[in-house]
Amino acid sequence: MPLRKQINTLKLPSHVAIIMDGNGRWARQRGLDRIFGHQQGVNALREVIETAAELGIKYLTLYAFSTENWCRPDEEVSALMGIMIQSLNNETGTLIKNNIRLKVIGDINRLADDVKERLFETINLTSVSTGLNLVVALSYSSRWEITEAARRMSADVNNGTLKIDSIKEEDFEKYLTTYGIPDPELMIRTSGELRISNFLLWQIAYTELYFTNKLWPDFGKKDFYDAIIDFQKRERRFGKTSEQVLEK
Ligand code: IPE
Ligand code: IPE
Ligand code: MG
Repeated sequence: MPLRKQINTLKLPSHVAIIMDGNGRWARQRGLDRIFGHQQGVNALREVIETAAELGIKYLTLYAFSTENWCRPDEEVSALMGIMIQSLNNETGTLIKNNIRLKVIGDINRLADDVKERLFETINLTSVSTGLNLVVALSYSSRWEITEAARRMSADVNNGTLKIDSIKEEDFEKYLTTYGIPDPELMIRTSGELRISNFLLWQIAYTELYFTNKLWPDFGKKDFYDAIIDFQKRERRFGKTSEQVLEK
């Protein structure tokens, strides 16, 4: 049976998060500069966004650049920022046409003005879209996000809008950059690394993890289908027994 037919569209994850890793190795394996890998990665990105929109997934969060990635060589960081601007220039029209809404999470203040401007422009232009919510994690790390949340929450305790004794998990979530977005049900990481690298640590408490050896530029529609089919075979117990889950 074709892969697409094996997907139960009534049981789709509503939020998929992806750690797009392996661009550098993809290029080095071909004797090319790492930057070519990043450029090639944009094609995989386009295919995955298209597939998510086609399937009717509501939220897709992509890890594009981490706080730690600022420590890479200057030329690589500026090439990545250049690719970002170029992609926004090329793809904003397609996002609008496909009813896709862009959102960014991360420490945006660290980005250069031209990147910020282009980003906000696309965010504004796509703000009326009602289809796929595309969340790009840029200059993002989970520990940055959680520290920032703690800081802003403490300020509210200080100014009296929040009482320490009444703080619940749901209150903390309001201070995270992902507030209003459901937790990811499926997280995919490419390139064979078995780690999370500071991505959505709070939000993945009960997320199903899927790792593949494919390097990001080689990841396509079929690989995305495979991950969803694998996800749909899992029993999500949330601490309960299998019998309890099956009773429902
Ligand atoms: C992922 O690919 C892209 C970013 C982190 C920006 P890498 O650049 O990390 O590729 P590898 O892991 O070195 O192969
Ligand atoms: C994670 O990839 C960050 C992104 C994909 C943007 P890295 O390549 O930076 O992760 P590590 O350093 O191998 O953990
Ligand atoms: Mg990497």
